[in-house]
Amino acid sequence: MFAAYASSLDAADPLAGLTLGERPEPPVPDGWTAVTVRAAALNHHDLWSLRGVGLDPSRLPMILGCDAAGVTDDGREVLVHAVVSHPDWRDDETLDPKRTLLSELHPGTFAQRVAVPSRNLVPKPSALSFEEAACLPTAWLTAYRMLFTQARVVPGQTVLVQGAGGGVATALVALGAAAGARVWVTSRNPSKAARVTSLGADEVFATGARLPERVDAVMETVGAATWQHSVRSLRPGGTLVVSGATSGYVAETELNRVFFLQLRVVGSTMGTRDELARLLAFCERTGLRPVVDRVLPLADARDGFAALDAGDVFGKVVFTP
Ligand SMILES: NC(=O)c1ccc[n+]([C@@H]2O[C@H](COP(=O)([O-])OP(=O)(O)OC[C@H]3O[C@@H](n4cnc5c(N)ncnc54)[C@H](OP(=O)(O)O)[C@@H]3O)[C@@H](O)[C@H]2O)c1
Repeated sequence: MFAAYASSLDAADPLAGLTLGERPEPPVPDGWTAVTVRAAALNHHDLWSLRGVGLDPSRLPMILGCDAAGVTDDGREVLVHAVVSHPDWRDDETLDPKRTLLSELHPGTFAQRVAVPSRNLVPKPSALSFEEAACLPTAWLTAYRMLFTQARVVPGQTVLVQGAGGGVATALVALGAAAGARVWVTSRNPSKAARVTSLGADEVFATGARLPERVDAVMETVGAATWQHSVRSLRPGGTLVVSGATSGYVAETELNRVFFLQLRVVGSTMGTRDELARLLAFCERTGLRPVVDRVLPLADARDGFAALDAGDVFGKVVFTP
């Protein structure tokens, strides 16, 4: 089958190890189901994998991709939940120390076929296209858990989203606005302001700018470049949720602010299958749809990876095998 896979790892030049070509179909162990992929969405995770972060060289060649929507052999239209926990794990699967994401241990979704544990399948609502559904399992699920599980945002609160163009950032804006929060966004790029406003952002500020007032919650995926601003932007008792650090993992924190203002700093990663099902219901009921930057044939995946690496995307890049 045709696939996009990592054949080597290079921290400085991630695209060097991206190979497009034939790979064997994935094995389908007992309790797993094969899915014919109709659409698969790109995440920063796939670039990190090509850089050797989270992907061990001993596992190469590895088919990339965490997100997919497709059809099972018995004709069910499904989304694939990307968090694979140990078969005996019964709790929140994001807390399983042995959990992996598709493409870390098991072959990923950038292929004509993918195999996943049957409990990782979620029915695709007919109201969503395969391309739209494929955007949800990583970036949108991460945003859903950050806002509603970790920060417990309620209608009328003010949320700051750091960064405007990323897959998680655009999902945070759209989900937060649809849930009735006032959403403020920072961006380095004024040209993104109009687009993020169209998603529901109330105001867009230059990265690092002083805000008119402190916010109830900050959603952080940029990392080192915005961390101090995130800490300074919270009201007493506010919540900072961090799920990514695109600009760097090491940041200084004014601990006096954390304890005097009784801030909550919460890490967040992906989400559960139940949260993914609730996210789908939320999209179906509200009419909310993920922002798709572009849809490319899987054969042109290199163009999509290059655009994401250059920061030249607004919303999700989707591949169709
Ligand atoms: N923990 C999880 O489960 C999980 C899930 C998904 C993603 N992530 C992580 O979350 C991060 C975000 O991923 P993504 O694909 O959504 O977006 P991304 O393409 O990595 O970009 C995020 C945003 O960061 C801003 N940005 C980047 N560099 C910056 C800098 N030096 N200074 C200020 N702003 C900067 C950009 O905003 P502007 O251009 O508007 O300024 C961009 O919109 C990644 O690190 C990813 O690995 C984690």
